[in-house]
Formats: sequence, structure tokens, C-alpha cells
Amino acid sequence: MEKMKERTAQIDAVIHKYMPEPKGYAKTVLEAMNYTMDAGGKRLRPMLMQETYRMFGGNESVIEPFMAAIEMIHTYSLIHDDLPAMDNDDYRRGRKTAHIVYGEAMAILAGDALLNYAYETAAKAFTMTGDLSPVVSAYTILTRKPGIYGMVGGQTADVELTGTPLTEEALNYIYENKTGALMEAAMMIGACLAGASDEEVYQMERLAGIVGRAFQIQDDILDIEGTQEELGKALHSDEENGKVTYVTIHGLAGAKKEVEDLTGAAVRILEGLSRKNPFLQELILSLVHRRN
Ligand code: IPE
Ligand code: IPE
Ligand code: MG
Ligand code: MG
Ligand code: MG
Repeated sequence: MEKMKERTAQIDAVIHKYMPEPKGYAKTVLEAMNYTMDAGGKRLRPMLMQETYRMFGGNESVIEPFMAAIEMIHTYSLIHDDLPAMDNDDYRRGRKTAHIVYGEAMAILAGDALLNYAYETAAKAFTMTGDLSPVVSAYTILTRKPGIYGMVGGQTADVELTGTPLTEEALNYIYENKTGALMEAAMMIGACLAGASDEEVYQMERLAGIVGRAFQIQDDILDIEGTQEELGKALHSDEENGKVTYVTIHGLAGAKKEVEDLTGAAVRILEGLSRKNPFLQELILSLVHRRN
């Protein structure tokens, strides 16, 4: 999709604007931060955030520091997820992982630094508008969803339950949190900053939760039948780590059906809204057949 390329390039420019320059005594960690951020990635979370913002009528630059921040948090989660103590993966976004290039200590620090810098970046929004209340709400969402009641909680259960038979309930918790939470944050923040009502922000949370679950199941499918060239990461990471995934429990066909069903449910929620954004709908639909 040509439009997708264009939007991704615009998001890259926004992110680039907010990234720190590698210089001074901490130059190595700054380089490691930029190394993984610059490697690309689909920029899905900032894209979902921006498109949700647009759907609710937002058209100001106050969204930009939040877009950069969510991608920084996502990228930190990837750097740490790839560490030997976690998934022990050597490739990410088509490059050797940060810990392979810069060593484990620098990769840990680069993740820490990206997480903090995300909040420093999002805080710039406080000086960009006179209407502070939506910014406070958006910032609060950004503090909660990536943490223990979100992404970190999901990663904790993912790591701790690796190698044990998973109940459906545990699997749901893991997917909802390790992957769903950042998507929820993205869409909720987009809605919130555009002045959407609490009810609308809640609808976005629900929608993003469904999209996140579909996204993680597709990630599990691609870990089995994708290609390293397309994915930019090595295949069979889950099998090597003894992870139980949706695919392990329901098989590839069951997993593909679930991705389609969830995507259908997400689109129905979108269609039921009074606000419209055809590009957002197209984006969510395109995730069913994504190859990277
Ligand atoms: C990878 O996320 C981690 C998961 C939640 C499955 P993405 O597939 O969005 O990774 P990038 O940002 O495009 O590299
Ligand atoms: C990762 O799930 C979710 C994160 C919070 C990083 P995975 O471990 O399946 O992600 P990939 O396959 O390494 O990208
Ligand atoms: Mg993992
Ligand atoms: Mg992983
Ligand atoms: Mg995976």
C-alpha cells in the first residue's frame, strides 16, 4: 500500500526529530538506542495512535511527542525481550540485536534509557497546548499500560510460564498484556488527545485489545511459517524457547481462523462508531495477511 509507505516515512521523521544525538560520555548507550530505533519496524503503534487521533478529529502536533514515546517504549521492550535472559534472539528489524552489537550491559541500559526518554519526550506535550487536561489523561495512560498492569505484567507471565502447559486463561492474560497493552495505550492516547469522551476512549481500549490479540497470534504464526527476510528476525524462536503459543494449542488453521475472526470483530466495532477513518480500517484489515 503506497499510502502506508508514505505514512510510515512521516512517522519515521517525527520519531527522528525526538531522538537524542549520540554524543558525550554516554555516547555508546545513545548509539545503541538509535541503532534499534533506526532499524525501522512497522511503526504500527504510532500509526494506530495518529489514525485514532485523526478519526476523533485531532489535527495538532501535540500528538507527535506521544507517537515518538510509544515507539521508544515498544523498542525498549524489544531490546529487552531479545536478551539472553529472555528470548535470546540474535536478529531484530533486519539487524543483529543490540546485545550482540553493543553487549548485554549496553543493551539493558539502552532499553532503560529508551523507557525514561519516552516519558521525557511525552512530557514535551505539556508545553505544546493550553488545553492540559487531555494531555494529563494521555500521559497517565502512557505511565500505566506499559508497566506491571500491562506489558511488563504480560512479559512476566510469558517468561515465568515458559515450558509449562498454559491454561487458556493464562494465555489470554499474556497476549492481552505483553502485546495488547501498548496497542491499547496507542489508540486510547490518540482518542484522548483528540478530546474523545471516556466512553469512546474505553471503546478504543476494547478495539485495540482485540487488534493486539490478533497481532500476537499472527506473530506466532509467522514465527513458524514466515521468512527471516520478511520478518527481519529469526524464525522458530518460540519453539526453541519451549513457548506455548496460541498455535501450539489450536494449530495453525485454528490460529489463522482466530486472527480473521478477531479482525472481523475489530472492524465491526469501527463500523459501529459515528467517527470514520477508512485508512485505520484498511490498516487493521491489512494485519490479517501481514508477512512482517
Ligand atoms: C513485535 O512487534 C513484538 C510483538 C508484540 C509481536 P512488531 O511486529 O510491531 O515489531 P516492529 O516494531 O515492526 O519491529
Ligand atoms: C513480544 O512477544 C512482546 C513484547 C512485549 C516484546 P514475542 O517475544 O513473541 O515478540 P517477538 O516475536 O520476539 O518479536
Ligand atoms: Mg518474548
Ligand atoms: Mg521475542
Ligand atoms: Mg514472537
